[in-house]
Amino acid sequence: MALGFGLMVEIVPSILSADFARLAEEIAGVEKAGVRMLHLDVMDGRFVPNITIGPPVVACIRKATRLKLDVHLMIVEPERYIDAFVEAGADLVSVHQETCPHLERTLRQIQGRGAKAGVVLNPATPLCLLEHVLEAADYVLLMSVNPGFGGQKFIPQVLGKIRALHEKRHELGLDLPIEVDGGVNQDNLAEIVRAGANWIVAGSSVFHSRDAAATVAQMRRIATAATAVRV
Ligand code: DX5
Ligand code: ZN
Repeated sequence: MALGFGLMVEIVPSILSADFARLAEEIAGVEKAGVRMLHLDVMDGRFVPNITIGPPVVACIRKATRLKLDVHLMIVEPERYIDAFVEAGADLVSVHQETCPHLERTLRQIQGRGAKAGVVLNPATPLCLLEHVLEAADYVLLMSVNPGFGGQKFIPQVLGKIRALHEKRHELGLDLPIEVDGGVNQDNLAEIVRAGANWIVAGSSVFHSRDAAATVAQMRRIATAATAVRV
């Protein structure tokens, strides 16, 4: 599946902070604002201290939107559920390095099912642990909060990690999008994009704002302007 927007900057709304009783409406709002991906957070109460949605909800969302569905698995033993999430309609599936003893195999499993495979690092997990799988991954998601909840504060040390990965992909000649997730808002967005981030996940800053579509539009303007002055 060609996504067709690899290294462009994308605002990726996370529905974790949306009103689930009005989910279709909330999704339609950001879709109209021109986003191309929707971030779905799957939590199991084991890898992270919170529980969210499973494949049946993803299948319902699939019917409600044409946006690419970016499914972030914060669960132990993700290999047991990958097939079900792709079957439900996930276009991209990311797994945490911390949950995968056979990371390359798990990435291949996602790709074998026809989805794009992402690998995620918690803020405290060093980049060097990805050294031998960078070529196998379709994108890397760097957590900028400890996963589990929306509305947390961005951890600024992650900026250095984004810069380092940006340099690394350049050095290796890889078209590897960098996704950043957690605590992104209108104030820190430009710095995050300048550091090299491509796909910007935004939950509470979008869905807790008065007008989600206007916020997305504003964030897209900030992000686009920041790409012009990347380090
Ligand atoms: C956190 C999730 C995020 C979350 C981000 O564990 O992975 O995707 O929705 O929410 P904000 O943007 O509010 O930090
Ligand atoms: Zn997420």
